[in-house]
Amino acid sequence: MSDELKDRIAVISGASAGIGRAVAMDLAERGARVVLNARREDRLRELRDEIGENDAEIVAGDAGDAKVVDEMLDAARERFGREADLVVVNAGRGLAGSVFTSDASEWEDLIRTNLLGAALLMRAAARRMVEAGPKTEDGDAWLRSPRDIVVLGSNVGRHISPFSSMYGGTKFALHSLAEAMRREIGPRGVRVSLIEPGVVKSEFQSVAGYDPKSFGEFMERIGPVLEPADVARLIGFVVSQPAHIHINDAVIRAVRQEYP
Ligand SMILES: NC(=O)c1ccc[n+]([C@@H]2O[C@H](COP(=O)([O-])OP(=O)(O)OC[C@H]3O[C@@H](n4cnc5c(N)ncnc54)[C@H](OP(=O)(O)O)[C@@H]3O)[C@@H](O)[C@H]2O)c1
Repeated sequence: MSDELKDRIAVISGASAGIGRAVAMDLAERGARVVLNARREDRLRELRDEIGENDAEIVAGDAGDAKVVDEMLDAARERFGREADLVVVNAGRGLAGSVFTSDASEWEDLIRTNLLGAALLMRAAARRMVEAGPKTEDGDAWLRSPRDIVVLGSNVGRHISPFSSMYGGTKFALHSLAEAMRREIGPRGVRVSLIEPGVVKSEFQSVAGYDPKSFGEFMERIGPVLEPADVARLIGFVVSQPAHIHINDAVIRAVRQEYP
């Protein structure tokens, strides 16, 4: 336990499993108070108990729903006394296959979760952070109040993979939104950081419908692959920098993963 984030109030979408859960644990260990979102409320309750009720709040629901997005941010203010200054836009899912081969009945949910829901949370968080935080033109108070929006992109949002190109398409779009928002609100003292992980072992592979045999062999060939805690450590490092420093785009891979 450290206190480097002791004054920070965080919101994490998709915190019931994988990277989001590990990020919530890491931020709480660094001293932040956290609001946890995902659809599986039982998992969130367990995580809240593990972190400690004084430092964690839960908001169960679909992160693709604008009402739930507002509830997450409202919960930070109502429970911890002010607007969140650290929002991790993490809820997301994969989908095996390409435009040619993937299950088209999953496309709407994929785009709604990975792109529309992420954009809604980025927009709501940015508006509140810009409004509530100190203004860069009013002296140096902003340097004592780091504000972060951290967006989970992907390797396949930068390198085209024909094997999961519908998923990759949502991440390519999300990368462009994150970089555009960085250019827009960075000058106002809000950091928008894009994190691009390679293969991370989580529930992601089964939700996406990857073939366990062939993907298992791939993971073995490039392994050991990343664990969620490896990505969480990177995010913890990024948001712990002094307010004038911005690690705005970070790629993290298993060393033997040459592609994507
Ligand atoms: N694993 C990888 O290899 C990898 C690589 C690069 C990027 N990423 C990205 O990292 C992020 C996290 O992935 P992960 O590996 O941690 O996957 P995961 O283990 O499947 O976890 C996904 C989390 O998102 C939540 N979630 C999914 N849809 C949601 C929705 N509509 N509303 C609210 N919560 C939702 C899930 O909880 P509920 O089911 O309880 O809602 C779960 O907590 C995703 O954006 C993913 O695209 C993953």
